[in-house]
Amino acid sequence: MNGRYAFQLFAALGLLGLINLPAQAAEACDPAVGQKLFETRCTTCHSLAEHKVGPKLGGVFGRKAGSAPGFTYTPTLEQAGFTWNTEKLDAFLSGPMTFLPGTAMAFGGLRQAEDRQALTCFLSQQGPNS
Ligand code: HEC
Repeated sequence: MNGRYAFQLFAALGLLGLINLPAQAAEACDPAVGQKLFETRCTTCHSLAEHKVGPKLGGVFGRKAGSAPGFTYTPTLEQAGFTWNTEKLDAFLSGPMTFLPGTAMAFGGLRQAEDRQALTCFLSQQGPNS
């Protein structure tokens, strides 16, 4: 391999590396995986569009905790005092009753960080009218 060819090869690899970065970031957030998890793990108690045992989750991302109109929350959720974002959802979903002792969400938690990420990603894309 002569020097000029090697240079071109490394330049090309570098370029691929650059192009690859956003693709990897997008991969870390896969709403299809999140939707499947939502359907298998959450829909016993939740729907996106209406309250069931748990509050409706369409539009939960960016909503103040414990604030969906028409749902009766525990004081724990009502007084949580934060807005749902990636970090809070991740903490809650890893162990609802550890993160917010006193919550009525009887769910053991999602152990795998990828599962929580995918689910949070899915929820972040579901607006209040979904
Ligand atoms: C066994 C029933 C049950 C299951 C399963 C369950 N939840 Fe819940 N969830 C609840 C209840 C009940 C509440 C209200 C808790 C409270 O008032 O303390 C709640 C509250 C929440 C909240 C807070 C919403 C708000 O308006 O502040 C989020 C977010 C949430 N659940 C997400 C999920 C996700 C995601 C899953 C699936 C991984 C899930 N839940 C599985 C029953 C459940």
